[in-house]
Amino acid sequence: MSDKTVQLTDSATNKTITLPLLSGTLGEPAVDIGKLYKELGYFTFDPGFVSTASTRSAITFIDGDAGVLLYRGYPIEQLAKHSSFLEVAYLLINGELPDTAKFSAFEDEVTHHTMMHESLKNFLHGFHYDAHPMAMLCGSIASLSAFYHDTLDIGDPEQRRLAAIRLIAKMPTIASAAYRYSIGWPIRYPRNNLDYITRFLHMMFEVPSEPLALNPVVAKALDLLFILHADHEQNASTSTVRLVGSTGANPYACVAAGIAALWGPAHGGANEAVLKMLAEIGDAKNVGKAVERAKDKNSSFRLMGFGHRVYKNFDPRATIIRDMTHKVLADLNVSDPLLDVALELEQAALKDPYFVERKLYPNVDFYSGIIYKALKIPTEMFTVMFAIARTAGWVAHWLEQHQDKDTKIGRPRQIYTGAVKRDYTPIAKR
Ligand code: SDX
Repeated sequence: MSDKTVQLTDSATNKTITLPLLSGTLGEPAVDIGKLYKELGYFTFDPGFVSTASTRSAITFIDGDAGVLLYRGYPIEQLAKHSSFLEVAYLLINGELPDTAKFSAFEDEVTHHTMMHESLKNFLHGFHYDAHPMAMLCGSIASLSAFYHDTLDIGDPEQRRLAAIRLIAKMPTIASAAYRYSIGWPIRYPRNNLDYITRFLHMMFEVPSEPLALNPVVAKALDLLFILHADHEQNASTSTVRLVGSTGANPYACVAAGIAALWGPAHGGANEAVLKMLAEIGDAKNVGKAVERAKDKNSSFRLMGFGHRVYKNFDPRATIIRDMTHKVLADLNVSDPLLDVALELEQAALKDPYFVERKLYPNVDFYSGIIYKALKIPTEMFTVMFAIARTAGWVAHWLEQHQDKDTKIGRPRQIYTGAVKRDYTPIAKR
């Protein structure tokens, strides 16, 4: 909290009010406008909440100008280098890095909640085989409330905690089951003797007829990608989870809503859209035309994987992923012409005044698709990868929200632009 204030004067009435400035441990202060309507009779207008803080949170901090990302105070670069996704999930939820005993207990509990209810297979089989896996994931996660009645009392901290564990644990199982259903393979059950990432890769790719020969580079790369995608402040899908959570909805409904929000191409769906864009550009010599199209206000075409609401500098995750892309492709002895297109596109955009003036840099989605492709993750599963990783952030924010005394149901106001009051006229007189 701070004792600083701002003064606001209404030029129509010459009335001046004083509004408190709220500060956190890092970042810009925020004006508390709670009494604005009562004292001046005005609302604020901020489409997309570009300048509006919706909550206090201690989980993640972004400095968009400096390109800084901290999970519970730890720089993403250090976590990417030294941590694992499951340890990051523990950190996001609990606020501190675990000691060996705590991590072992957390990992054991997650491992023993990885199975999905057998009836859930019927949900997947209700989809047509070519359903988008995000549709199958969203529907299946929403249905979990029908199976786990012992985690629906959101007033019980233990039920909230167990729901968070279940969601982290079951997301890979359900995601891989959805993928295998779409290609006509039988699902693979989670193997408890494997770690979180390796277990997921086995559920995704192991065929019944032969054991999976897994290159350790693949598991390491996926673990790193999951760390980078685990959380990101009040992004659209996390804000959706919080808004749904503010109504008292069960955790499975909240996360299903987050999956739905993530699916959009302006958000988590961008990684799939980037690969389709790169394939459409096809060759580095076509990059110039793509950049011109993206600048054309009469065209809806945007450079997918570029720009960010908060980062007005390089997205630190994009930097890590770009470096990792070269290493993974070299380690797997994979060459991908789309990487050449991506590198050419990045250089062209970073030199173009349109992108420079608008501070449009590559974001987390620009390179991730190239790595997922090298890891043999199918394109339509890219956003599912994002959802698995972001589940850690979503449940961390959901848990935080339910411990926050300021939490109230989210219900924005509006500026009404419709018809003024008028009387009904019978159809015979219209
Ligand atoms: C993620 O919030 C998060 O933290 C999200 C995320 C996370 O981890 O949760 O980081 C993950 O969603 C990353 C973003 C992935 N989306 C994309 O890559 C899609 C392409 N990017 C854009 O759609 C856009 O940049 C957004 C949605 C990411 C941000 O949009 P903003 O902040 O609302 O910015 P804007 O649309 O107001 O654009 C500002 C200007 C506009 O031009 P002018 O009207 O000023 O002339 O920049 C232009 C836009 O037209 N612009 C682009 C562009 N992005 C913005 N022009 C061309 N190509 C682009 N990609």
